[in-house]
Amino acid sequence: MKILVIHGPNLNLLGTRETSMYGSETLEEINNTLSELALKLGVELSVFQSNSESAIIERIHDCLSSGIKGLVINPAAYGHTSIAIRDALLATALPFVEVHLTNVHSREEFRRKTYLSDIARGVVVGFRSKSYELGLLGLVHSLDKADDEVLK
Ligand code: DQA
Repeated sequence: MKILVIHGPNLNLLGTRETSMYGSETLEEINNTLSELALKLGVELSVFQSNSESAIIERIHDCLSSGIKGLVINPAAYGHTSIAIRDALLATALPFVEVHLTNVHSREEFRRKTYLSDIARGVVVGFRSKSYELGLLGLVHSLDKADDEVLK
């Protein structure tokens, strides 16, 4: 089963970017940990980072032709602004988990709304890099089970 992880804008700077907020792990370290977890879960993982909204949208479109079965996405600031990324996810109808390193609900007012949360299969916020691991676990679990079983 193929899963795609998408990292949005400025996440390429993890490791040096506002470390008291986002932690000191680099994106490469996070991706390596995710790849190890994917191996244990028996899923094939691809990762993609872009600072460009259009590149993210195009990568989401490509999911159908490349056989991706679900996504873990940290949309970063685009989560709070991009109806276009929401529409791209709706267009593919693929299940996805939205993740954020920080608890966006405990920060500025404008971070409390995201355009993805209500259409996500699940949302994980506030556990720094662990948010990604928990998101991947939740996604794979939900894809492996019937929906009603996931809720038990
Ligand atoms: C973030 C939270 C967003 O509000 C912010 O714009 C980011 C990172 C997070 O992972 O906590 O760039 O998505």
